Amino acid sequence: NIEKKVDSLIAIMTLKEKIGQLVLYNGSWDVTGPPSDVGNKEKYEKLRNGEVGAMLNATSVAGTKELQKTVIENSRLKIPLLFGYDVIHGFKTIFPIPLGESASWDLEAITKSSSIAAKEATASGINWAFGPMMDISRDARWGRVMEGAGEDPFLASKIAVARIEGFQGDDLSKNNTLAACAKHFAAYGFAEGGRDYNTVSIGEYELHNTVLPPFKAAVDAGVASMMSSFNEIDGIPATGHKGLQRDILKNTWDWDGFIVSDWASISEMIFHGYAKDKTHAAELAIKAGNDMDMEGRAYEAGLEQLVKEGKLDEKLIEEAAKRILRVKFKLGLFADPFKYCDEDREKNDIYTKEHLEVARDVARKSIVLLKNDKNVLPLKKNIKSLAVIGPLADDKDTPIGSWRGMATPNSAVSLLEGIKATVDKTTKISYAKGVELGVGERSFVRDLKVNRDDFKGIEEAVNIAKNAEVVVLAIGEEAFQSGEARSQVDIELTKPQQKLFEEIYAVNKNIVVVLMNGRPMAISNVAEKAPSVVETWHLGSTSGSAIADVLFGDYNPSGKLPVSFPRHVGQLPLYYNVKNTGRPINADGMVFWSHYTDEKHDALFPFGHGLSYTNFKYKDFKINAPSFTSGGNLSVSVTVTNTGKRKGKEVVQLYIRDLFGSLTRPVKELKDFKLIKLEPNESKTVTFKIDEKTIQFYTANKKWEAEDGDFKVFVGGSSKTDLEIDFSFKK
Ligand code: IFM
Repeated sequence: NIEKKVDSLIAIMTLKEKIGQLVLYNGSWDVTGPPSDVGNKEKYEKLRNGEVGAMLNATSVAGTKELQKTVIENSRLKIPLLFGYDVIHGFKTIFPIPLGESASWDLEAITKSSSIAAKEATASGINWAFGPMMDISRDARWGRVMEGAGEDPFLASKIAVARIEGFQGDDLSKNNTLAACAKHFAAYGFAEGGRDYNTVSIGEYELHNTVLPPFKAAVDAGVASMMSSFNEIDGIPATGHKGLQRDILKNTWDWDGFIVSDWASISEMIFHGYAKDKTHAAELAIKAGNDMDMEGRAYEAGLEQLVKEGKLDEKLIEEAAKRILRVKFKLGLFADPFKYCDEDREKNDIYTKEHLEVARDVARKSIVLLKNDKNVLPLKKNIKSLAVIGPLADDKDTPIGSWRGMATPNSAVSLLEGIKATVDKTTKISYAKGVELGVGERSFVRDLKVNRDDFKGIEEAVNIAKNAEVVVLAIGEEAFQSGEARSQVDIELTKPQQKLFEEIYAVNKNIVVVLMNGRPMAISNVAEKAPSVVETWHLGSTSGSAIADVLFGDYNPSGKLPVSFPRHVGQLPLYYNVKNTGRPINADGMVFWSHYTDEKHDALFPFGHGLSYTNFKYKDFKINAPSFTSGGNLSVSVTVTNTGKRKGKEVVQLYIRDLFGSLTRPVKELKDFKLIKLEPNESKTVTFKIDEKTIQFYTANKKWEAEDGDFKVFVGGSSKTDLEIDFSFKK
């Protein structure tokens, strides 16, 4: 058994070899953080000496094989390396960015795309994915909002589990599954002002009730590893946070995986002002329970010395090494260190037709129809004339998004290509770019599109718009406007894009706005004027085909927002599950209530919102009893009817409100959902169970429990629903 094997191996390891297991080096040819000062020569020497446990950003069968061989053929104990990589939304076949894919609310589809990503990554030498990212975020300024599942802890927990199941499968020792890494532990998404890496100052209850649930779900799903986060929380950097790592994760949750730091986050505790030097940083991190040092060089610099000086018990190093070895045994690496180095698989299992088909299916499921007045959509395939306009309309790169794995640049199906492949031959399609994105020189976007005042192309765009039946306008954000370190203070469309919209709108009101973006954007003006707005995120390899499927009705949109869209950046952080405050009344004419005087305080498009080409009617909302007690439950049901002419899918959402508690409770909290399919005129009765678990929260007693009291339950097709029933609970 694995534990015995781990123990026998540890028993023969020297201190240096144990420390070696805790060291994670970057492959030299790619960086996803500030490059460290370790030269290649030194890296290879350490590999030969068995002083490195894992590598990141080393890809391809040839590349990983060479590194693994270096270790196996030269080191005393021949302990195989882990190869980690940011498999965030696909490896070579690219799926929608995680935020977009979360809009599908389709857990099966999400598991499927993750399993394909695992299949492709393992065919290229990778055995450890730095995902899923499960940081709750309520601030669209934060660039990494694109990488998570949005603002809600319940939805994010379900999606985290779906992704872990896709990566790890039911058997970690297979050669097409890999170890997942739940990240970033914890509260990284709460960076002040949405500025990446910034301070987090949330309290204990927010931490437990909002931030930690997806991580707990990941632990319950057997996630193999976790990554600590860059941020501090209330004065303590997460990487050196004993309360989080050792106490909660390892002790209370009894989790046996390992924690890897983020890139250099152990040594960055010096910049935080928490550690005086690398040795001190190493001491703080290992004592706090952080097992592996990613590119920080603190463990290799300090751990041996700390043990020799009697400042650190070797047992802590041993414990960390054991956790890492355990995962290596589970993966089956000791039985065959080269199990992921299969040239045939690398040739045949990556970017296949079948994978692209799945990507197209997940992509169309991720699209959210935000607005469709006058039923401009779906468009007819035999429409006479169509103007396809916008800086993103024929862009083959932006849809691949940020954190794009091994994607080939410019390899996505562009919207224009997707449309051309869908419409009848008789349709006259005209195309104009109109403007450049104009994202500005501080964006760090590759291939800078700096000019914010270049409106030259608008005239041509207006001319083709004038003569077209309908205009499809593709606008939004460049791929690398979101992602790590891509925070923005401005989340509106750039000036050239706004001008382009206005001038086209002046000559043709039949505009379908296709948004491509990594974060919720503040698009009030466009959303008010354009009759149709379609949120397509950055949808991956098959983007244009998937969007065309939706625009022309081959797929009836079913996505729902996993995150609120603000009216204005000044509303951020914005989320549906807010607290009521002491001044909640939204009464016209009153001044002294919690609101903004110059903007509405609710979302432009709320969490859970998403339209369809058909209509769903909710009726017969019932609860089987007005109250329940410990051990009991309630059954809530509602009948949903497709009253339109097309088949469609609806995400039926269940929310509750706890009217008072030992701590204040949100005005609504998602507690369950079901994705149903309905033919025209078909009705389905959806039933949800409410039990003690549904109403539990981390209470003033500092534990998860249900409290006696009065509640409301809501059902509907978005968080804005007002279909409600009262119930109560008594222990
Ligand atoms: O996995 C990432 C992490 O999310 C952010 N910093 C770099 C890591 C490795 O690429």
